[in-house]
Amino acid sequence: LVSTGTARPAGGVDGILPTLRAIVGEQGWTDDPAKLAPHLSEWRGRVVGRTPLMLQPSTTEQVAAIVRTCAEARVAIVPQGGNTGMCAGAVPDASGAQILVQLGRLDRIRDVNVEDASLVAEAGCVLADVKSAACAAGLYFPLSLSAEGSCQIGGNVATNAGGINVLRYGTMRDLVLGLEAVLPDGSVLDNLRTLRKNTAGYDLKQLFVGSEGTLGIVTAVAVKLYPDPGPLQTAMLALDHAGAAVLALAKLRERMPDRLLAFELIGARPMDFVLRHIPAARNPFDLRYEWYVLLDAAVPAAELESALIDLAAQQRIADAVVAKSHAEQTALWRLRHSISEAERREGPGIKHDISVPVGAIQEFLDAAEERLRARVPQAEAVVFGHVGDGNLHYNAHLRRDVPDADLGRLGDELTRAIYELVTEMGGSISAEHGIGVLKKEALRRYGNPVALAAMRTLKAALDPAGIMNPGKVI
Ligand code: FAD
Ligand code: MLT
Ligand code: ZN
Repeated sequence: LVSTGTARPAGGVDGILPTLRAIVGEQGWTDDPAKLAPHLSEWRGRVVGRTPLMLQPSTTEQVAAIVRTCAEARVAIVPQGGNTGMCAGAVPDASGAQILVQLGRLDRIRDVNVEDASLVAEAGCVLADVKSAACAAGLYFPLSLSAEGSCQIGGNVATNAGGINVLRYGTMRDLVLGLEAVLPDGSVLDNLRTLRKNTAGYDLKQLFVGSEGTLGIVTAVAVKLYPDPGPLQTAMLALDHAGAAVLALAKLRERMPDRLLAFELIGARPMDFVLRHIPAARNPFDLRYEWYVLLDAAVPAAELESALIDLAAQQRIADAVVAKSHAEQTALWRLRHSISEAERREGPGIKHDISVPVGAIQEFLDAAEERLRARVPQAEAVVFGHVGDGNLHYNAHLRRDVPDADLGRLGDELTRAIYELVTEMGGSISAEHGIGVLKKEALRRYGNPVALAAMRTLKAALDPAGIMNPGKVI
């Protein structure tokens, strides 16, 4: 286990507990260890923290009152959404002196406006419910990720979530029109507007996108909706090398610009894990290939099939299957959405969430393989990701015969090898998962010093007492 390592002095936390409990009422708090447990650990159990109290406010006013109370007593706050984050940003530290503010009871869809093509949701709305509300109005909210049944829209803002439809619609940053947030002094920033154009001053809402709870608590979000893309065709492609995926993507985009919604790369190893650990998972091909791509396209089936036949004739892909029914589509996507869970069941692995320019994917993979062979030959790469965004989850497992005593050292060496390469190639050590606690050191080491200094200045200006999610990001 890794301690979040930012124990702040208890600084009066016990003294404000009665006030905090009174703000939210009986339904809005717990200190019951059994109820707290799932909120104190990140989902792979790598970081476990403590808290004297978890608050579940149900209004923005309650959030503001909580923050004011904590600010006066200089008590730290950790905002938490669905706790599906990959970097332990939503977990309190080990001091037992940080108040956990879980947003799940702020769960109202405040408005869906068809003319504006916008939706206003409170921060604790589960992403899948936001998507359903858009759908019920005949529109489409494109953010899609495997955790959408439990992550919250406020968490999606706070992490600038990506997922499978970034290729066509962008990340959360591109989808936010406005937001409401409680600042570290307890004041409410009401920026909850659905304007498409607004150049009146700094674009403050964007400051909160990707801020991981360090600048304030997001309480509501206004997002863009899109026309329903219509029936989707789902296909899985089999490839001999990953570079072929980039070429296939370029070819398909030429033929169906704006109609390609998802284009996901899956290596042979993550596919093996899924087939091994996920009940009823089945390889749609008779053979095991080195690489697979799973795609969604909003085109008639015949158009996709003809494009895939051409790709096969040009030997850009080795094989392809197109789902013929909703059940087949679901089965193909289940393979993709089960990868994280299958990795977890496979055993301890080292996760990375890197990005490089899309055209450099093959060069990155070749160089990464070479470096791992030279520096950590005990590692087996487990690669999948959002190839159309240049974002790979370049994960690795160490061979089972590696002695326990060597795991930490080899894991660190492996991560260094990957991050050095990414940095040399002008890429990012965090494409969509954020920094939280787990990548804080890496950001310090590989981040741009001028950018880091500007981030610290912003943090100090908005949160001079350092009460908002301290110890995370910077
Ligand atoms: P949490 O985990 O609760 O919090 C994440 C961070 O945001 C923390 O720092 C927390 O303090 C802060 N925060 C949460 N809510 C608020 C708020 N209201 N105000 C201020 N700060 C807040 N991510 C992707 O981008 N793409 C993927 O494809 C993807 N796939 C995933 C698949 C699985 C199986 C899992 C488990 C996770 C995946 N994730 C993915 C990561 C995760 O789902 C996203 O980061 C998501 O946006 C986190 O939302 P959450 O509500 O769970 O946030
Ligand atoms: C995904 O793309 O499935 C995720 O970002 C989750 C992960 O990396 O495990
Ligand atoms: Zn991802």
